[in-house]
Amino acid sequence: VNIRGLFAGLVGAEPGEIALVNNTKAGEQLVLDRLEGLPDGNIVTDDLHFSGSLHNYEGLRRAGWGVRVARAVDWRVPTEAIAALVDDDTRLIAVSHVSNVNGHIADLPALADLAHAHGAYLYADIIQSAGVLPMDLSESGVDFAACNGYKWLYGTHGSGFLYVRKDRQGSALVDRVFPGRAQLRYPPWAEASREGESPVGISPREDASRYETGHHSYIGYAALYEGLKFVDSVGVEAMHAATVGLIGRLLERIDLDRYPSMSTHIDRSPIVSFHMPNAPSLSEPLKEAGVVVTLAPNFVRVSPAIYNTTEDIDLLADALNNV
Ligand SMILES: Cc1ncc(COP(=O)(O)O)c(C=O)c1O
Repeated sequence: VNIRGLFAGLVGAEPGEIALVNNTKAGEQLVLDRLEGLPDGNIVTDDLHFSGSLHNYEGLRRAGWGVRVARAVDWRVPTEAIAALVDDDTRLIAVSHVSNVNGHIADLPALADLAHAHGAYLYADIIQSAGVLPMDLSESGVDFAACNGYKWLYGTHGSGFLYVRKDRQGSALVDRVFPGRAQLRYPPWAEASREGESPVGISPREDASRYETGHHSYIGYAALYEGLKFVDSVGVEAMHAATVGLIGRLLERIDLDRYPSMSTHIDRSPIVSFHMPNAPSLSEPLKEAGVVVTLAPNFVRVSPAIYNTTEDIDLLADALNNV
């Protein structure tokens, strides 16, 4: 199985629906650059989408694009909040499948139905879900999705994937790049071309690799291949069970009065966050305890993985409770 096939198997896609891209944002940008109907019409996103993407959308909004951002209330964005901003001029709904802020899980099938009912498409950023949250992109109705290899896929930077649903290739997402090598069929390159044959031969690709350009980071993908084999051998279900089990233990042990949970899908999500004004002040005590978690200005984010143990979780909970 090649790297596309291995990744496709983990996310419920076909190998021919996977293009190699440098990073998540490059995949999302490719969709913005090639989607039929853009930049006219509007794009709907929400403020639990990746802040790097929101930065891009705010820049596009200032450049005159129609961008609408649904705001989270109580750290969740219900599908209805997005629906309220969608109309028949909407071309794209763009969300993070699992929010890197608090692990909020977007309802992809409902959002895909919503987009399609208005002639629009759905893009999902799956970097925080691929490899740890069981998913089936084909069944979910998602049109486009992207991720990098360095999170739950155990690879490194610069080795990402773009999923383009088969029936969107070359139509909804138009061809503007034709990767391959031209055959020059005229002297001195070759004998004269045969009658009826074009003097310049090309072989346009018919799968998602049509969206790729030049050489890839082969070293990056070689590293990622090992990561994908690891995920595949453990299984996404088992990865998920391990993470959710550790989060469950943390929720039992942490003082939730001091660290209120900001999470909306604690029984399912691979990420849990706790509200804490001035969370960076926890950096020293956590370092002393030997724990590394993400400290945002006003929250602590925890995303334990299969290599973590219950002892790790107890260490973290004790360190936080004892501050
Ligand atoms: C939701 C989400 N999207 C995207 C990224 C990273 O994007 P890229 O692969 O473009 O660097 C991150 C990294 O923190 C993320 O959490």
